Amino acid sequence: MRAVVCQQFAPLDQLVIEERPSPALAPGQVRVRVTAAGVNFVDALIVQGLYQIKPPLPFVAGGETVGVVTELGEGVTSPTLGDRVLITSGFGGFATEMVYPADRVLVVPAMLSDGQAATFMQSYMTAYFALVHRANLQPGQWLLVLGAGGGVGLAAVDVGRALGLQVIAVASSQDKRDMALSRGAVAVIDSSTEDVKARAKEISGDGVDAVYDPVGGRMGEECLRALREDGQYIVIGFASGEIPKLPANQVLLRNRRVTGVDWGAWVGRNPAANQALVKQLIAMIEAGKVHPVEPVSYPFDHAAQALADQQQRRVVGKAVLVP
Ligand SMILES: NC(=O)c1ccc[n+]([C@@H]2O[C@H](COP(=O)([O-])OP(=O)(O)OC[C@H]3O[C@@H](n4cnc5c(N)ncnc54)[C@H](OP(=O)(O)O)[C@@H]3O)[C@@H](O)[C@H]2O)c1
Repeated sequence: MRAVVCQQFAPLDQLVIEERPSPALAPGQVRVRVTAAGVNFVDALIVQGLYQIKPPLPFVAGGETVGVVTELGEGVTSPTLGDRVLITSGFGGFATEMVYPADRVLVVPAMLSDGQAATFMQSYMTAYFALVHRANLQPGQWLLVLGAGGGVGLAAVDVGRALGLQVIAVASSQDKRDMALSRGAVAVIDSSTEDVKARAKEISGDGVDAVYDPVGGRMGEECLRALREDGQYIVIGFASGEIPKLPANQVLLRNRRVTGVDWGAWVGRNPAANQALVKQLIAMIEAGKVHPVEPVSYPFDHAAQALADQQQRRVVGKAVLVP
């Protein structure tokens, strides 16, 4: 099998494609022939040693993988041979073959392509967890989504619209804004030319009920001021590389709130509660209420390029490696 290996925490161009023997199959595991491996912003951070999770070196990169079950370990009754499954592993997923515990794979809903299936879980669950479980937003409320043409941002546009929110999408390029409109944003703001805070207040009337921020930096700090009474600033991530320093006086004013979101860590502590949320999300996908994007494809051996494009804002929606 082939794998994208991180031998040391280093720039992306030092990732290595290795030929490796097929991994042994243990009881309770399934063997999967990989058909698509989702590319996430977090994958690029992990291999550079810039993320809070640092796997022991060397390790195979990639956290979301879809493939076909080709072999069942002793005792496995589900999934079955030939099933298409999604593996959410954190790392180890940029490989042409994987073995994984059968009780931790998810059979992929039929209506999702391999690419969609390999790219929706982290983005959509972050958005769903944030908007429903953490922020408890209600139909009719105004939601301002920063980084709305990227993975977790676009998912928030889609989930937000499905929840009945009025979504204002912020993105730097026309392609990204068009993508957000295609997922139901009621208005878009061009972050490269417009004053995002002022436009958000203008569009929503008296300010927005929530700011969903995967970008951080100056724009995040500014957008705190776009919140109306009791509005929430939802901290998702810092794609800009800068952690915003929120002025406490602006939180005090208008009784605003700051809501932190760390979906991955929460899953580790609350697997059963996460399963319930995943079920709700899958039901929304099956009912056609949300529509995970069809990702841009890269050949498997171009993993470093895909990660670099992701980090440098060139990916619209999501990207996937195809062996
Ligand atoms: N809290 C959680 O549980 C959780 C879960 C998953 C991911 N995250 C975090 O969320 C963030 C976004 O992840 P993602 O998967 O959505 O990434 P992504 O697909 O690359 O999207 C990030 C967006 O951020 C914007 N951006 C602005 N300045 C940027 C810069 N200097 N470099 C890169 N992007 C910049 C870009 O939009 P424009 O070009 O339109 O500005 C880009 O489309 C990351 O920090 C990630 O670690 C958090």
